[in-house]
Amino acid sequence: MATPKPSAGSVVVAIIAAAGSGTRVGGGVPKQFLKVGGRTILELTLGRLERHPEVDALVAVVPPRRLRAAKLMMRRHPRLVAVVAGGARRQDSVERGLRAAPGGERAIVLVHDAARPLVAPELVSSIIRAARRRGAAVPGIAPADTVKSVDGGGRVTGTLDRARLRMVQTPQGFRASWLRRAFRRAAVEGTAATDDASLVEAAGMPVVVVDGDPLNFKITTRADLLRLRALMRRG
Ligand code: CTP
Ligand code: MG
Repeated sequence: MATPKPSAGSVVVAIIAAAGSGTRVGGGVPKQFLKVGGRTILELTLGRLERHPEVDALVAVVPPRRLRAAKLMMRRHPRLVAVVAGGARRQDSVERGLRAAPGGERAIVLVHDAARPLVAPELVSSIIRAARRRGAAVPGIAPADTVKSVDGGGRVTGTLDRARLRMVQTPQGFRASWLRRAFRRAAVEGTAATDDASLVEAAGMPVVVVDGDPLNFKITTRADLLRLRALMRRG
């Protein structure tokens, strides 16, 4: 494994979470392995991060049964330094990716969903910058719709102040030492979370939100897949 060379101060390593099964999209093949314009969504995502001048190394986390095939990607992607098998929850997958991440405790670690192939280089740069300065940074966008809380029966229990809410995306950026500390603590306390920043927050470290990008949407449903295909056709 080649040792990545530091770009500006500390090494930047991107972990791509691609070990999910894509149950909400449905179909036999997990969404990140579906082809759009001749390439899999995982390869589109990998390509975007790999071409970013500040990203030194990448680690991909894939379903265990696809490990052998996915390792072949390393031949075509020189900055992809490790491909590892994921776990049952996204959190388990990221933890395994983090164990394989080079660069030591001073690195900046970006965690990105394979299911967000339209991530823009400007967004990656702004997350890296904010993570270096502040320790932990996530992209977020204000909800366009009014957001209500409901009880189990669908009855409205309140209306949230939209101005103070952010829907957060990936890449989420962290000092490696912070993210490792957060995962260690989550393991001890049994904390479960759907994003990485939640674990950092739970461990008492501050997280800042920078402007996200509506085009950096996550392929979650079939409608998202149709939207991605339409956007890719338009070029
Ligand atoms: N992911 C992962 N390991 C898991 C679960 C999810 O690496 N055990 C990844 C997915 O591959 C995806 C990202 O985390 O790139 C965001 O998760 P999500 O959109 O929820 O994807 P899935 O879990 O695959 O989809 P679903 O929840 O519909 O089953
Ligand atoms: Mg999921």
